[in-house]
Amino acid sequence: MANPLGRKLAAKFNEEIRFFKGWIDGPKAVGAILPTSSVTARRMASIIDTGSGLPVLELGPGTGVITKAILAHGVKPSDLYSVEYSQDFVDHLKETYPDVNIIHGDAFDLDTALGENKHLQFDSVISAVPLLNFPVQRRVQFIEDALSRVPRGRPLIQITYGPLPPVPAGRGNYVVQHYDFVVRNVPPAQLWVYRSSLA
Ligand SMILES: C[S@@+](CC[C@H](N)C(=O)[O-])C[C@H]1O[C@@H](n2cnc3c(N)ncnc32)[C@H](O)[C@@H]1O
Repeated sequence: MANPLGRKLAAKFNEEIRFFKGWIDGPKAVGAILPTSSVTARRMASIIDTGSGLPVLELGPGTGVITKAILAHGVKPSDLYSVEYSQDFVDHLKETYPDVNIIHGDAFDLDTALGENKHLQFDSVISAVPLLNFPVQRRVQFIEDALSRVPRGRPLIQITYGPLPPVPAGRGNYVVQHYDFVVRNVPPAQLWVYRSSLA
């Protein structure tokens, strides 16, 4: 396809096929039915403070729509650490973003996934991991562990599709705030921001 619109549509279609294949291989791990929209991805990336000089941690990048928005927000590829569970998505991400630190690992075990970088402090965390598929206690540990890797007060943003925060308030050392409801997403997405409540 020669024209730019045609190329854009073809690329989007490719992403959706790739996503659908991931969904067939592991519907619970993928969690959504279509890739995140670029509008949602931009909203999520907007919480990053590029002036902090700190790297950014992305969890569950999937096809890389949010990865792309994070880079467009001004994060250097070498300052982005993206942890993805599915080998297929990892292969695709490494090919598309060769300078990003794409890590094949489990976002629920960040010490192992980050390896020698486990002591890094990040500016913020951007997560699309389908938390609702995990027991509440593991979700709480997930939030607390991720927040221990950012300076006090800095955020983790989480996408979900239900009306309630995916990790309920009052279960651990964090506060949760509704950030946005994005209708230009299939299905419409809710964005939640978590911050540590430790003094
Ligand atoms: C809803 S999809 C992400 C959608 C992504 N924003 C996109 O548009 O392609 C969830 C992603 O989280 C990944 N995932 C699920 N469990 C994970 C885990 N424990 N650690 C890291 N990634 C995980 C899935 O493989 C999938 O790529």
